[in-house]
Amino acid sequence: MTISPSVAFHDGHSIPQLGYGVWQVENDVAADVVEQAIRAGYRHIDTARIYGNEEGVGRAVRAADVPREDLFITTKLWNDDHDRDKALAAIDGSLERLRLEQVDLFLIHWAKPVQGKYLEAWKAMIEIQQAGKARSIGVSNFPAEQLEEIIEATGVVPAIHQIELHPYFQQRELRELHAKHNIVTEAWSPLGSGGAVLNDPVISQIAEEKGVTNAQVIIAWHLAIGNVVIPKSVTPERIVSNFASLDVSLTAEQVEQINALDRPDGRVGGDPVTCDF
Ligand SMILES: NC(=O)c1ccc[n+]([C@@H]2O[C@H](COP(=O)([O-])OP(=O)(O)OC[C@H]3O[C@@H](n4cnc5c(N)ncnc54)[C@H](OP(=O)(O)O)[C@@H]3O)[C@@H](O)[C@H]2O)c1
Repeated sequence: MTISPSVAFHDGHSIPQLGYGVWQVENDVAADVVEQAIRAGYRHIDTARIYGNEEGVGRAVRAADVPREDLFITTKLWNDDHDRDKALAAIDGSLERLRLEQVDLFLIHWAKPVQGKYLEAWKAMIEIQQAGKARSIGVSNFPAEQLEEIIEATGVVPAIHQIELHPYFQQRELRELHAKHNIVTEAWSPLGSGGAVLNDPVISQIAEEKGVTNAQVIIAWHLAIGNVVIPKSVTPERIVSNFASLDVSLTAEQVEQINALDRPDGRVGGDPVTCDF
C-alpha cells in the first residue's frame, strides 16, 4: 500500500504529509469515515474541539487495525480557551474525548488578535508539551505579526502553521516567513472547501492530460510545493481517490501553471487578522 511521505519538524518529530480533515463531519459520521480513511492509507487525522467529533475520531482510532504509534492525531485549542487555566483544562478534555494519552500535535486554532490572549495561550501550549500531553505544538490562523510576536516573546518556534491555502490563495508571504523560521506549512481548505478552484480550466486541463481527477491535481500540487495537506471528504470514492494523489506527479511546468492561479481575492474562509468569533 502507498504510504504518505513525512515532513520533518524542527523539534525532531515529523508529520505524514497527506492527512485527512474532519471539519463539518458529525461525530458518528466521523467514527465511520475516519475508519474508512485509515483503511485507505491515511495515517494523519486533523480534528479540533470545535468540530465536535473528537470522540468519534477516537473511536475510529481504537477500532483501526493500525497501532496507535503509526497514527498522527492533531487537535486544536478553541478561541475561548486561551487563558492559561482554560487551555490546560482544554487539552485534558480533548484527550478524554479522544481517549488518548497524548496527541501528536496541538494547535492554537486562531490567534484572534482582537482578544489579545494568544501569547498567554502559546505559553500554555509550551507547558502542555512539557507535560507530555502534546508531542508537538503549533499554531493555526496567525497573522505574520502575531506569529513573530510569540516566537520573540518565548523563544519557542511553532513546529507548524496551519493556514488557508489552495491554488486561488497561495499565501506566499507567510510561506516565506515559515521558511525563515523552519516552520512547516499546513494547508487547510486545500481544495478551496469544494468551491470554484476544483473546476478551474487550468486544473481541468492538467487533469485531462494526466488522466486523473481535478482534486488529485490540486493535492499533488500541494505535495509538490512541500505543504502538509488535509483534504476532507465524506464520500467513500473520494476518500480513496484523494489519497491516491500520492501517486500523481506533476511536471515543473504544471506546478508553475498552478502557481499562476493565485488571486488576491481567493480567500474562502475567515480572515485571521479580523477574526471575531
Ligand atoms: N484551522 C482551521 O481554521 C481550519 C479551517 C478549515 C478547515 N480546516 C481543516 O482542513 C480540512 C479541509 O478543509 P475543508 O474541509 O474546508 O475543505 P477541503 O478539503 O478543501 O474541501 C472539502 C470539500 O470538497 C469536497 N471534495 C473532497 N474531495 C473531493 C473530490 N475528490 N472531488 C470533488 N469534491 C471533493 C468535499 O465534499 P464531500 O465531503 O461531500 O465529499 C467537501 O465539500 C478540514 O476538514 C479541517 O480539518 C482547518
